[in-house]
Amino acid sequence: MYSPTMRLTDEERAVLAGNSGEAKRKAMETIVRFGDVFGADRLVDLDHGVHLVTSFGIPLLKPVFDIMDELIEAGCKTPEPFTADPRPCDFANVPVGLVPRIVFTKVMYAKQKAYEAQLAKVGLKDGKAFTCACYFDEVGNIPKEGDMLAWAESSAVVYANSVLGARSNRNSGVLELLCGIVGKAPRFGFLTDEGRKASWIIELKTTARPEAQLLGSAIGMRVMEDVPYIRGLDRYLGGELNADAKDYLKDMGAATASNGAVGLYHVEGLTPEAKAQGAALVRKDARTYVIDDAEIARVRAAYPVMWKDPDARPERCFIGCPHLSKAQLYGWLDTLEAALAKAGRRRLAIPTVLTTAPDVEAAFRADESAMRRLRATGATVSAICPLMYMNNPLCGKKPVITNSNKLRTYTKARYYADAEIAALAAGGTL
Ligand code: F3S
Repeated sequence: MYSPTMRLTDEERAVLAGNSGEAKRKAMETIVRFGDVFGADRLVDLDHGVHLVTSFGIPLLKPVFDIMDELIEAGCKTPEPFTADPRPCDFANVPVGLVPRIVFTKVMYAKQKAYEAQLAKVGLKDGKAFTCACYFDEVGNIPKEGDMLAWAESSAVVYANSVLGARSNRNSGVLELLCGIVGKAPRFGFLTDEGRKASWIIELKTTARPEAQLLGSAIGMRVMEDVPYIRGLDRYLGGELNADAKDYLKDMGAATASNGAVGLYHVEGLTPEAKAQGAALVRKDARTYVIDDAEIARVRAAYPVMWKDPDARPERCFIGCPHLSKAQLYGWLDTLEAALAKAGRRRLAIPTVLTTAPDVEAAFRADESAMRRLRATGATVSAICPLMYMNNPLCGKKPVITNSNKLRTYTKARYYADAEIAALAAGGTL
């Protein structure tokens, strides 16, 4: 039997000894070994359900499917229903040719249906639970301030930690499910007060509100996995976490987490812990990074163009990574219509996909007037993950544009700021 370094309760030791069955023993041993590696002192009880990063049935993940089978056979299920990252394909709204479709369905995600059936058996909320923004009101997987969590999706972890004030480490895929099955997580890193202190001060000195995805990119690339304390952003977002501020922080956070590896940030005067503790959150030896207009421009100019032909006409545009909120979705409808009017065109020049959570998509589709307007522009709405789509080599090599710095980082998609991408999608050129 594994001899843990961390302190365990009698009940936890009993599970580790196999008293609750072999499947739970293995799950417990996995999280205890993981915690020992990171110096955890003990396990904590989870206060809230999990969110899974692994939402795609790639045949290579056979060991994951085997683990799932073992959990299902043992009757293991998470106590609360869980959500998962977006699905990788949506041929109805993001159509592809026959060959890429075969690659998607027969090669890349050949196990999608079987895997989703497994997810349902271990506690998936429902068929609409597939989104990285599980914390939207419409989806309802919303932890409270102080809740102990075990999530893995980087954009969701950084949002839960920073905006909601919950506590999750950046766990790996499957580990979060095992934590959910056992109901525990190892206590280290962001689960501790000390691990939530900032070792960077970001002094924001731009002359206008910066693009969220660019600010997040600059911060992420500089601080990497450290915790930044951001000063000056409340000038633009205000002192309340209203819908606009939350959407901005969602997009900024996803960029910090993907262009770097940020799992938690504090915004002075705005995010919960910064409001409660202020500068007490900042370590004495914290370094300072000043971000002004020139720094934002420098960061942006350093993005490489990965297209084979840098002058190619874009073949697809993805807006909504991480998924758009309902307000953002309606905002983009207005923005695309305005861009079309400016370009003197009736339909978008570049096939454009607005991506959002399935529950938000359903609500939007139920709004006949909005759908009529969207169809008139030529854009579509989908709950797909653009990154999973781009992972198909036949799709990934096409010239794709996006306003997502996460998608830019992980694929060959080219980044454009919101106003630029609207003009580009509408008129075909900048
Ligand atoms: Fe979400 Fe997929 Fe982007 S998980 S953040 S839409 S890469």
